[in-house]
Amino acid sequence: MRVTILGGTGFVGGYIVEQLLEQGHDPVVLVRRGSESKVYQPERCWLVPGDIGDDEALRDAVRNSDAVIYNIGIIREFPNRGITFQALHFEGARRAMDIAEAEGVTRFLLMSANGVKAHGTGYQRTKYMAEEALRTTGLDWTVLRPSLIFGDPRGNTEFAQQLYRDVIRSPLPAPLFFDGVLPLDAGGFEMAPIHVRDLATVAVNSLNLPETLGVVYPLCGPRRVSWREIIGLIAEVAGVTKPTVPVPVWAVHTVATFFDRFALFPVTRDQLSMLTQGNTCDSEVNWQMFGIDAPIAFDAEALAYVNPVQAG
Ligand SMILES: NC(=O)c1ccc[n+]([C@@H]2O[C@H](COP(=O)([O-])OP(=O)(O)OC[C@H]3O[C@@H](n4cnc5c(N)ncnc54)[C@H](OP(=O)(O)O)[C@@H]3O)[C@@H](O)[C@H]2O)c1
Repeated sequence: MRVTILGGTGFVGGYIVEQLLEQGHDPVVLVRRGSESKVYQPERCWLVPGDIGDDEALRDAVRNSDAVIYNIGIIREFPNRGITFQALHFEGARRAMDIAEAEGVTRFLLMSANGVKAHGTGYQRTKYMAEEALRTTGLDWTVLRPSLIFGDPRGNTEFAQQLYRDVIRSPLPAPLFFDGVLPLDAGGFEMAPIHVRDLATVAVNSLNLPETLGVVYPLCGPRRVSWREIIGLIAEVAGVTKPTVPVPVWAVHTVATFFDRFALFPVTRDQLSMLTQGNTCDSEVNWQMFGIDAPIAFDAEALAYVNPVQAG
């Protein structure tokens, strides 16, 4: 199949391109100026220069493809540069849907996120709006809603390695966030991170599975871990003992409110809200249907990449 991937140059996108190539597909990758070196095996891909706001580039990327994967997403807005959740999660996706339909491409996969909802954070709301828009099209669609995604970032940004660099290696104790006034269960909120390879496998295999048409898949890994355990696991991989300190969410919220727009401040208000909401799934996925015997668990072995020195 010839498959257009929008958002193919980042962390997840690179693994999707790798999986497409492994399965003998022809990836077409929309590449923004300056991101040329981020394409996975560019010599084996069709590259279309352009931004999601450029309709002509989008048409070129989508034309003659058998499927479109919309994988663009951001975690932080910079409105004065036009980088907003509304533009990239909703308007860009909507434009890609319209162009896919106009070009006669019927198969469309949308990368959403676990926990999206109509009345959530800006991130959650705009991803939910894209899902709702997709339902109104005549496309053969599938929506993937991954939890937090982990795995070797291969030069991109990924949360476990970021935690290792910014929290575990920092001389300050690791924050165990808690809601309310008393730190009764500080850092107790849970995640079930999914490995990036499993997510890429699900994405690519679903393209050929009629069972996935019109289905929304929450995708979580097999192991639920609390924030406290995540800190402990990454410290273990780093070979250190990390002191922790309870931190009330309201305090960070207050500071983040002022610093949201500055790239240097490590966490935005929305990120913190979503983090402390937890990120687990209620439903089970039939992994075998997607060609996965057992999904990769979030454990010390799978996390060795966060500290290549320690891993030897
Ligand atoms: N990482 C997670 O834990 C997680 C969890 C749930 C859902 N997701 C979703 O998974 C998807 C991939 O996430 P990721 O972690 O791989 O993010 P990422 O590494 O930041 O990659 C984002 C991709 O979007 C592209 N992009 C951004 N702005 C664009 C624009 N204006 N025009 C065209 N392309 C643009 C980026 O291109 P450049 O390379 O040029 O910047 C890159 O290819 C996103 O939809 C995200 O919301 C991620």
